[in-house]
Amino acid sequence: MKIISFSSGKGGVGKTSITSNVALGLSQLGKKVLVLDGDLGMANVDIFFGVHPKKTINDLLAGESLKSCLTPVAHHVDLLAGGNGIYELSHLNSFQRREIIAGLESVNYQYDYLIIDTSPGLHDHVLHLNSIADECYVILTPDPSSLADSYALIKVLQQKYKSQKFSIICNQVKDEQQGAQLFLRFAEVVQQFLTVRIQYKGSIPYDVNLKISNQHQRLIIRQDPKSISAQALRVICSEIESQNKTIDRATGNVKGLDMLFRPASGHA
Ligand SMILES: Nc1ncnc2c1ncn2[C@@H]1O[C@H](COP(=O)(O)OP(=O)(O)OP(=O)(O)O)[C@@H](O)[C@H]1O
Ligand SMILES: [Mg+2]
Repeated sequence: MKIISFSSGKGGVGKTSITSNVALGLSQLGKKVLVLDGDLGMANVDIFFGVHPKKTINDLLAGESLKSCLTPVAHHVDLLAGGNGIYELSHLNSFQRREIIAGLESVNYQYDYLIIDTSPGLHDHVLHLNSIADECYVILTPDPSSLADSYALIKVLQQKYKSQKFSIICNQVKDEQQGAQLFLRFAEVVQQFLTVRIQYKGSIPYDVNLKISNQHQRLIIRQDPKSISAQALRVICSEIESQNKTIDRATGNVKGLDMLFRPASGHA
């Protein structure tokens, strides 16, 4: 089971939209996917899938088996829903975190992917969820504060958890060109001050159809597969999947839209 997390410094950039659609997109490629709603306390992946989970992560922490806490949300996609409005969930202690990880490990061989949606910002549990991911996706938007906040997230993950590798998706952009330019602008700053490796994984255009689909609790990739955002999301799914195969075969060398950055000097 490959673990992928979607996170951002700033809120409202599209993490949950991307998590849900990528989960569905990977299942359409024949993969088995488990989604963890890691936006603990403010969970909403279930709303995006239009389901009403009977059990949540709360039941897992109360001692139930992971399997009994899962909600099937699509063919080959199961969800471990987060609790809503539960303050304690957003302040898990290390024992509770270990309980969740142990539960997830128990189904390691039943899924191809574990996809984690997170809450925005630098909370401990967000950092921890990102640190267990094989691949940590950071979502940028053209909003200038999104760049600054994502930079801060990467910096803290590197300092606190020694994370070295991040994947970047530019969401809500005008077109592919704006997405690539946004990445390059971000990469320039990262290159200057941090010793991490960042990879550009593509962009998703601003698409009013995606917004409307979300409002109707339908996923764009199923609702309107020909829309510009659904097409971009499918490209990202194929990229995730082809990279997974590449990693399986080779020895950790990832090919594709890879950008390797070495440190210059100084601190930001
Ligand atoms: N590519 C896009 N085009 C148009 N609207 C989008 C796009 N991506 C996301 N949105 C809209 O942006 C809003 C925020 O999306 P979403 O809830 O997925 O973000 P989030 O990062 O999970 O937010 P939070 O930080 O609150 O968890 C929603 O209204 C969603 O429909
Ligand atoms: Mg969200």
